[in-house]
Amino acid sequence: MVEIVIDGRKIRARQGETVLKAAQKAGIFIPTLCHNDSVKPYAACRMCLVEATKNGRTKLVTSCDYPVSEGLEVKTNTERIQRDRKMVLELLMARSPGSPALEELAEKIGLGHGPRFKEQNFDDCIMCGLCVRVCNEVVGVSAIGFEDRGPARRVVPPFDVENPECIACGACAQVCPVEVIDIFERAGIRELPRWHKKANLVKCTSCGRYFATEEEIDMIRKKTNLSEEALHTCPDCRRYSFKV
Ligand code: FES
Repeated sequence: MVEIVIDGRKIRARQGETVLKAAQKAGIFIPTLCHNDSVKPYAACRMCLVEATKNGRTKLVTSCDYPVSEGLEVKTNTERIQRDRKMVLELLMARSPGSPALEELAEKIGLGHGPRFKEQNFDDCIMCGLCVRVCNEVVGVSAIGFEDRGPARRVVPPFDVENPECIACGACAQVCPVEVIDIFERAGIRELPRWHKKANLVKCTSCGRYFATEEEIDMIRKKTNLSEEALHTCPDCRRYSFKV
């Protein structure tokens, strides 16, 4: 364990833990967008900026990937941080205007509903890469990735066409902080238009409701020893029927 100071409070943290994690455990708020506990930090959005002082030197760091160390002093809400966070958020709002999540964050950090950039040529994605990392690190599929550079950079499936590797699980839509990955289910089809993906849904043999795509079931079949009966039973019914 190491002892650090955050906003004047002494805090014990685990060696190797990030400043963000230590602050969250102590109930100290640091805004984040691209952070998710299930994937490795990537520090793309810059919302979690804090001031870190060690050995008399102070620098601005991203708390989601900055490790704690003995004697580290952290400030999470100085004037400089507030100014920089607001600037970062305004730039993100220019990319994704009208995003309820960004509007909510703007309110929280005191940016308010001031004037936004009027002209913008970007799509609505803020390039945080959370969807890419979850698809790769959690689902284990890598169905989407970054393409191009600079302002033209975007997230797409390879060649921007439907990727047969995609299992249409919707994990990308679940984690997107600005909620711009649409997912629809109708007439037995799950659709993720952003990735040009359509997948057939499978009905639970017990309750009859659609609960997974054929691709999801295929993947679980390859990774587990579940019987065909269990594979075609939704998680709710499975809990009662198979005691899992
Ligand atoms: S949450 Fe740390 S950079 Fe995005």
